[in-house]
Amino acid sequence: MKRYGIRNLMRAAKLYNRWRYYERVKRHHDAYETQLEQLLVENGGSGFDANPKIVINDGWAIDTSQSLSGLDRLLHEAGEVVRERGGKIHSDIQQPYFRNLIFPEDIHKYPSWLDFITSSEILAPVTHYLKTIPVLSKTRPPGIRFMELNQNLDPNPPGAFAESQLYHLDLHDRPLVYVIVLIEDVTSESGPWTFLPASVSARAAEALGNQKRGHNYRVTDEEMYRVIDPKEAIVFAYPKGTVLFIDSSRCFHYGSRRSYKPRFQMMYAYTSACRCDFSQTFMRPYPYPIKEQDSALRKMVLE
Ligand SMILES: [Fe+2]
Repeated sequence: MKRYGIRNLMRAAKLYNRWRYYERVKRHHDAYETQLEQLLVENGGSGFDANPKIVINDGWAIDTSQSLSGLDRLLHEAGEVVRERGGKIHSDIQQPYFRNLIFPEDIHKYPSWLDFITSSEILAPVTHYLKTIPVLSKTRPPGIRFMELNQNLDPNPPGAFAESQLYHLDLHDRPLVYVIVLIEDVTSESGPWTFLPASVSARAAEALGNQKRGHNYRVTDEEMYRVIDPKEAIVFAYPKGTVLFIDSSRCFHYGSRRSYKPRFQMMYAYTSACRCDFSQTFMRPYPYPIKEQDSALRKMVLE
């Protein structure tokens, strides 16, 4: 990727997907242009165009209202899983200190996990930001992950920061939106998700040549803080039930640094119907459960 330039490869994938999935991309775009308000209302909302409750600005928004539709149920059902599986050895490991707690049957067992992310309150800001009806990722990353970040599970002493512990921009689409819900309180001891707003990230990417040919994908703190002020970074350390909306393709971010106080969070990945990678072509899509009586909007998001 470094040799050809990440930005060039993403552009090529976008062009290919626009051609290969033309009908679907057009359907999502046309629905956004002509039927959005009707789709949101039919999905259980009202008045979203006039006064959206949440607005993603400069690549991010944080909702601290604790009142989003379905949040109580989500916290309750996810809390059950934390009590059952948190702090234990588990097979689905990305890193020893970073793991997904979801079992395949969970999506059926805990309906609040999909209901929360497909409510009109969540879909309105995501759709307005992406300017198309989004889709919940069915390939990489999984559209729903329930992450435990816990340094205590790593049998090895912590080494130098690596992988997702370093600043980077995500590559699977651009723009895209992650919705991150804190299932337990997060403090500075939890290795919180930390990010730069899109405007700061654009300035940094330009100064660093990031995503251009011959440049590294990940950026150390030393490199980053040579071109921006560390005070420009935003730390997502908030109480349980706080929700972050973030375009991680435009906002540099890192996380999972020395999470000695375990961090539990739901991570939902929304993309457009036309991604910047080839995963739709080469991977079998994850089949989300869809019911006959689901709204047209929910079906478009999950199909
Ligand atoms: Fe990332």
